[in-house]
Amino acid sequence: MFKSIKLLHKVPQVELSNRRSSSQVKTAVIMLNMGGPQHVNQVHDYLHRIMTDRDMMQLPFQNILGPYIAKRRTSEVQKKYAEIGGGSPILKWTNIQGKLLCEKLDKISPNTAPHKHYVAFRYVDPLTEYTLKEVEKDGAKRIVLFSQYPQYSCATAGSSFNAIYSYYQKKKFPDNIKMSVIDRWATHPLLIKAIGSRISDEIKQFKEIDRNNVVILFSAHSLPLKAVNRGDAYPSEVSATVHAVMEEIGYTNPYALVWQSKVGPLPWLGPFTDDALKGYVKQGKKNFILVPIAFVNEHIETLHELDIEYCKELGEELGVENIRRAAAPNDHPLFIDAISDIVSQHLRDNITVGPKFLLRCAHCCNDRCYQSKHWYSKVCNSN
Ligand code: FES
Repeated sequence: MFKSIKLLHKVPQVELSNRRSSSQVKTAVIMLNMGGPQHVNQVHDYLHRIMTDRDMMQLPFQNILGPYIAKRRTSEVQKKYAEIGGGSPILKWTNIQGKLLCEKLDKISPNTAPHKHYVAFRYVDPLTEYTLKEVEKDGAKRIVLFSQYPQYSCATAGSSFNAIYSYYQKKKFPDNIKMSVIDRWATHPLLIKAIGSRISDEIKQFKEIDRNNVVILFSAHSLPLKAVNRGDAYPSEVSATVHAVMEEIGYTNPYALVWQSKVGPLPWLGPFTDDALKGYVKQGKKNFILVPIAFVNEHIETLHELDIEYCKELGEELGVENIRRAAAPNDHPLFIDAISDIVSQHLRDNITVGPKFLLRCAHCCNDRCYQSKHWYSKVCNSN
């Protein structure tokens, strides 16, 4: 019998009012992500920014076609946000994670305290440009640009870093601020433990007799094959996370890496999550756990695509016995320990920017990437 997944993913009501005043900030930790509309009336602008971002996607006649697609898709996407409660919880989750992170950093890294987190979204408020202004206004002495994508892709993290570069082409980067970059952390041991713990929690929900046969499907946002063939690091870094998690839980179950959220007619990296489910059901598999492996908090791809479209609707259609979804890391204590460890180690070791970040994709033909990486190398290594 099909069991719908539980909503493990409600955002707790956490008091976020301990935001520091400007005189209290020594280290600003800027949490970079694409973001998600908090209200359905933000959906159009959000889509418009995505569709016109050439780091995210390259369309022919993009300044005409991009806005056209955004307009055409708005009502369909609004409907999806309405079905998950009217908006994305990504801002709330990121604020919770940032608050807990900075509380921990103040304790374990007193030399760089006080710390304050900032959220910089690429396509919706708080937009990156706005956040950078706020950080400067607060007088931070040190900025850590912390990508909230554990695995790096030029379409996601790369787009955020390029946006920061673009912002500082219009104004000089302040001489008195030191900036550094955390661009990827796909196999951090505590991230792996947090995901492993989320999976173990779900496995316990299956009948004891079925537990070892539950197929674990690690699901990540797909990429156009064009980007993969250009040399985008994302597929290999997602695979690295999957293998580290399986090692953590002792390779107890059958598992596969699958890809979700394809849009448009061009070829994307597969197998796709829904097709994989159909394939495994045909092979006689009856029990599944879907694991969001590239998202650190809940948003539309987990709450709608995985929960509603796949676990509920497709699960029912295929007649699976049980299909559940592991929660994203969210505020799991191991995850908060993971991000605290990543940032504190980064500060302690006085890392500026890693060599992998500065290496472009083998077939990158985006001039902005070249200029942006050159700029990071100069700015991060200058103070
Ligand atoms: Fe990857 Fe430019 S597309 S570095």
